[in-house]
Amino acid sequence: MTFDAPDSPEAAYLARAPKAHRRRFAQVFTPPDCAALMADWVAGARPATLLDPAFGTGVLARAVAALVPGVAVTGYEIDPQIAAAGRAAWGGEGALDLRVASFFTAPETRFEAVIANPPFLRPGAGTELRAQVGATAARIGRPLSGLTNVYQLFVFEALMRLAPGGGRRSCCRRNGAMPIARRRSRIGS
Ligand SMILES: C[S@@+](CC[C@H](N)C(=O)[O-])C[C@H]1O[C@@H](n2cnc3c(N)ncnc32)[C@H](O)[C@@H]1O
Repeated sequence: MTFDAPDSPEAAYLARAPKAHRRRFAQVFTPPDCAALMADWVAGARPATLLDPAFGTGVLARAVAALVPGVAVTGYEIDPQIAAAGRAAWGGEGALDLRVASFFTAPETRFEAVIANPPFLRPGAGTELRAQVGATAARIGRPLSGLTNVYQLFVFEALMRLAPGGGRRSCCRRNGAMPIARRRSRIGS
């Protein structure tokens, strides 16, 4: 993956955060051209409020805020280290409420738009994330395989926070072969 500007917050973070740390949290950044494409779709609705449930350094939220001045952004980021980088990179394009917490603790607040590149993580047996599979399954009223990837849980949970009656969501995921989890999940349509 390349970043156009070597002095971008993403490039700076990649240069200083150890690989093992990034791997633990699935910290893979959205390339700028992809972020621009996703932001363009979301910005088309001129949302007043935006949710980024996996904020990272905020490349996605910054791209939307550049197109929709004044948008109120709420972000969730579980890793304090990258959250600090995201806060520092925020340039005052809009109001940012960045919560250093798991998205799975987020209240039921609704947003006019969602933009996300969720973490691609496999929930290990007996972990909190595995318990979250059951919790999300109960919330959506559908059974989910224990192999369901965390990114899919983000997709469902984020959808449930879109404003009633509609809203725009743009969500990307890591490229590559779809894990067996997807094929085996019984997630309905
Ligand atoms: C794939 S990266 C995307 C970062 C950024 N949004 C982007 O598009 O470049 C996923 C981010 O989600 C964070 N993350 C992982 N688990 C999380 C959780 N349960 N709640 C909130 N953020 C989480 C990771 O630390 C990481 O920064």
